[in-house]
Amino acid sequence: MQYSDRANAIAPFFAMAFGEKATALENQGRSVIRLNIGEPDFGAPPAVQQAMQQAVAKNELPYTGALGDMRLREAIAGFYQSQHGIHVDPNQVVVTAGASAALLLTCAALVNPGDEVLMGDPSYPCNRQFVKTFGGNVNLVPTGADSHFQLNSKLVSEHWNAHTRALMIATPSNPTGTAVALDELDRMCAFAKEKQAWRIIDEIYLDLSDHAPGPAKSVLAVDDGAIVINSFSKFFGMTGWRLGWMIVPDEMVPVIERLAQNLYICPSTPAQMAALACFTPSTLALCEERRQSLLTRRHIVLDGLAKAGLSVPVAPSGAFYVYIDVSLTGMSAMDFCEQLLAETGVALTPGNDFGDKDADRYVRLSYATSEQNLHEGLARIQAFTAS
Ligand SMILES: Cc1ncc(COP(=O)(O)O)c(C=O)c1O
Repeated sequence: MQYSDRANAIAPFFAMAFGEKATALENQGRSVIRLNIGEPDFGAPPAVQQAMQQAVAKNELPYTGALGDMRLREAIAGFYQSQHGIHVDPNQVVVTAGASAALLLTCAALVNPGDEVLMGDPSYPCNRQFVKTFGGNVNLVPTGADSHFQLNSKLVSEHWNAHTRALMIATPSNPTGTAVALDELDRMCAFAKEKQAWRIIDEIYLDLSDHAPGPAKSVLAVDDGAIVINSFSKFFGMTGWRLGWMIVPDEMVPVIERLAQNLYICPSTPAQMAALACFTPSTLALCEERRQSLLTRRHIVLDGLAKAGLSVPVAPSGAFYVYIDVSLTGMSAMDFCEQLLAETGVALTPGNDFGDKDADRYVRLSYATSEQNLHEGLARIQAFTAS
């Protein structure tokens, strides 16, 4: 039987592959510390879990509109007002099946075969696949520690060409946890807007970014025509609930609606009902506490890595990732991850998942796990590098 060229060409996720290897070790009775997966260990807030039970008990769970339940769209718009001081029209909020579906709908709406989307290297691997799925080409721009592993206006203008249709940026980023300063984001968006190109800004880690004093700033503060991608997965700890959202320009709403109707009808109804409980003051306070504990974990990790003699060229300012340079060990990223897992049971992700630029040199550590696990994992990494 034949599969499409697209399906045959798609690259596997090394983060998942290392997860499977870790499970195999556990099945052999080994103790494993998983620092490879970008999934907060907190779980959904208790109020959301209770709301889910109530939603399911009602037994009335029809499809919602393709753009999502209006109460939830209003609640998300209200969150931008209260959390970010930005007015968002609820009609421009689209609830999706995770940020993944938002990215998929965005690419389905914007990308024609031969169009180019500009993104930084390293960056979230699925973005390359979303663009390619619709026949687009990815212009993967190499970045380094000097630009905090992010695009900047100089790189964007240097790599722009006649086929570039969109700019795609995640800030803070996966795999580095580094963010783009708002004035730099403003310059890049203004440049792309001038070229009549779309700005796709993934803010899935925005509410997990450092922001003292005052709230983290959404791109909407500087570009109200940007397409914003966000999710309940990370800040609200609801990865498996498959719920996210996007904020799109007015003219794009009917386009996204037609696509969502046809591609998956609507996001999960019970998940949407439960997510309404995310936006109460007590749940938001709990999520803020969790953000603070991620910050504590980050300090533990940076300290432990320094003791292991491993360099982190740019400390993260959000999310829960650290991008570690392992070149001093003399090993490639892949060998480092393979050997570390086999010898110590600590799972990390090689940079090869996230692009080509220096991918052999970097590994990603996710600190979205307990302090106890982090201390144990770091002790094992220290013993490994010492040997
Ligand atoms: C930058 C980025 N965007 C999007 C996603 C997809 O998230 P979701 O679970 O909302 O589909 C992830 C998941 O790790 C991510 O890191």
